[in-house]
Amino acid sequence: MNKIIYLDAAASALKPESVINTEMKFLRDSYANSGRGVCARASAVDDMVARSRSRVADFINANPNQVIFTNGATDGLNRIVNILSRQPWYSSSSVFTVSDLDHHSARMPWEELLHLGKIHKMQECELDENLDIKIDAIPKTDFLIITAMSNVLGRAQDVEKIITAARAKNPNVITIVDASQYVVHEKIDVKKWDCDFLVFSGHKIGADTGVGILYIRDSDKYFPDKFGGGMVSKIVGNINENNSKWYLHHSPEKWEAGTLPLTQIAGLHVAIDELEKNRPDLNLIKYAYDELSKIEKIKIISSRDSTMLTFIVDGMHPLDVGAMMGAHDICVRVGNMCASWIHQRLNLGGTIRISVGAWNTMDEIKQAIDVIKKIVK
Ligand code: ALA
Repeated sequence: MNKIIYLDAAASALKPESVINTEMKFLRDSYANSGRGVCARASAVDDMVARSRSRVADFINANPNQVIFTNGATDGLNRIVNILSRQPWYSSSSVFTVSDLDHHSARMPWEELLHLGKIHKMQECELDENLDIKIDAIPKTDFLIITAMSNVLGRAQDVEKIITAARAKNPNVITIVDASQYVVHEKIDVKKWDCDFLVFSGHKIGADTGVGILYIRDSDKYFPDKFGGGMVSKIVGNINENNSKWYLHHSPEKWEAGTLPLTQIAGLHVAIDELEKNRPDLNLIKYAYDELSKIEKIKIISSRDSTMLTFIVDGMHPLDVGAMMGAHDICVRVGNMCASWIHQRLNLGGTIRISVGAWNTMDEIKQAIDVIKKIVK
């Protein structure tokens, strides 16, 4: 029997049986490529991809042609930078705005542009006393990355208000939402938010690794960043006459060069169904917060109403705490969580994070707390 207590949902969620079964059935009975065949089996795969796309669209209140399959949130965030920086109107005099809530993948691709001299300036949003983005202090910017929920602090940001405030300063600002953690706990409404781009990963919501979503509001407006099979409608001209030219399909096909992660897409819409039926029970986090608050040696970094519990132990390295919890078959995340800026701001070398999925029970949280009490004693 597997007696592991898995309290690391925010890193990657365990997979519901229905997702595993759907993927196995697809691999065994229905596998074929999509967008490339006309036989019944290939058409059925096309239908499956379309169904999964529509389910995602419905899930975030988008239109299916605004929903692009990627390989994950990191892939999506890197692609957004590549897409924007290759548009004919892109200017290296642009200003880009980040915040200390950002994950490495949200900010590093832009910092790299800065290092290459392809962006003029990078600035930060101010954070308030709760470490939320200060809406009335959003600076004027050309591009704004909004981490809708930090993977360290677990607090939902008011994305709609942040975007409204940014547009009041610059009506043409391009807004990019990293919803990787937010999507697990809160309903996303891209129409209400009116963001330009949004990303999340499948694996954090119970789908497989290797699939993510990139939402692009004006998905037919931009020139793509990747080229290959499945995106071209017609090629004309001749390379020897120097007039070779190609025409692209409309979105979403024009964004999806190459074979899609089909097995993962087959599981994705099932994972969304499961998540909507059964979101993680955050009373478990509140209970853990109340119990760990009683321990003098523990300093809690997150808030009681957070979706995760992040803490440090006085006199102990977070990696040692994680290893000791691991020795008791309890899985938690430790380190800088790929979110160095918030750690730097709080002057912390690392933290320990408890996060829960729909599979976790109060009994498991109680066992984990008992173990933490023994470790810090
Ligand atoms: N970014 C993921 C986390 O927060 C992996 O653990």
